[in-house]
Amino acid sequence: MDGVMKRFSGRNVLITGAATGIGRATACRFAREGADVAACDIKEKEVHETAAMVKELGQKSLALVCDLSKMDALQKMLDAAVGEFGQFHIVFNNAGIGDTNAFYEDIDSALWDWIYAINVKAPFFICQRLAKIMIDNRVKGRIINTASTEGKTNRAGSIVYASSKSALIGLTQALAIQFAPFDITVNAVCPGLIDTPIWHRGDKVMEMPEGSVIKMVTESSIDARILKIPRVGVPEDIANAVVFLASDDASYMTGQAINVCGGIEFH
Ligand SMILES: NC(=O)c1ccc[n+]([C@@H]2O[C@H](COP(=O)([O-])OP(=O)(O)OC[C@H]3O[C@@H](n4cnc5c(N)ncnc54)[C@H](O)[C@@H]3O)[C@@H](O)[C@H]2O)c1
Repeated sequence: MDGVMKRFSGRNVLITGAATGIGRATACRFAREGADVAACDIKEKEVHETAAMVKELGQKSLALVCDLSKMDALQKMLDAAVGEFGQFHIVFNNAGIGDTNAFYEDIDSALWDWIYAINVKAPFFICQRLAKIMIDNRVKGRIINTASTEGKTNRAGSIVYASSKSALIGLTQALAIQFAPFDITVNAVCPGLIDTPIWHRGDKVMEMPEGSVIKMVTESSIDARILKIPRVGVPEDIANAVVFLASDDASYMTGQAINVCGGIEFH
């Protein structure tokens, strides 16, 4: 990004779910704008690839392989992240898991706990630890969580996923209140239909070529005029909103859940 002001120079960003999709696109965007990036994910090969991309863009990077559903692994990941970077100015809690194939009768306690551990509990405990360091160091921190339009209006009928994303929006508001006195903002982005590997599990289940499910859902959403801008979203659409929320331009915004969804959701 030659010639573009590097507005995140000197800032450290921790991104979870950084192996692919929205997380990887955002890691590269932050790096292009001068930030150093700690990239965390359960997918070892892909998260190392993301870290290598950040390095290639001229920024410091660290790959952190971690299963965020496990509290001891999460705390060890944070030990390593803080050990290497000292402090984080920006935290992007983006890792998420869906339950698109779990029907009402199939939902058991283990599935419920697993999805909530990744989608809600991990963002809280990451914030608890990293915000303390922001406060101690008087950093004007930025925390951004990836929720979903499904967390506002449940269109697909998913139970665990949609309710966990509603909970994440609630957590965003609670933490915004908690950290506002310390100049730390907490916001969420709510993607609609974004073409990322999260949809590929559905392709496998339906034994269809990769990309089929998102294509089907996008086309039917356009036909039904649910999706107003008639194209599927790309990870960079979300990265655009995340860097805005992380920037000084968003310093008077907190507790918000911003839709980036081609008009699927209006509230
Ligand atoms: N793609 C969409 O249409 C869409 C829509 C709404 C919300 N979202 C949300 O966007 C976020 C990013 O998803 P994406 O679409 O880029 O898909 P993605 O599959 O590319 O990214 C999700 C990442 O989370 C990681 N992850 C899952 N479980 C983990 C665990 N236990 N520990 C560590 N990492 C784990 C995955 O390995 C993956 O890299 C998710 O929170 C998702 O719910 C996506």
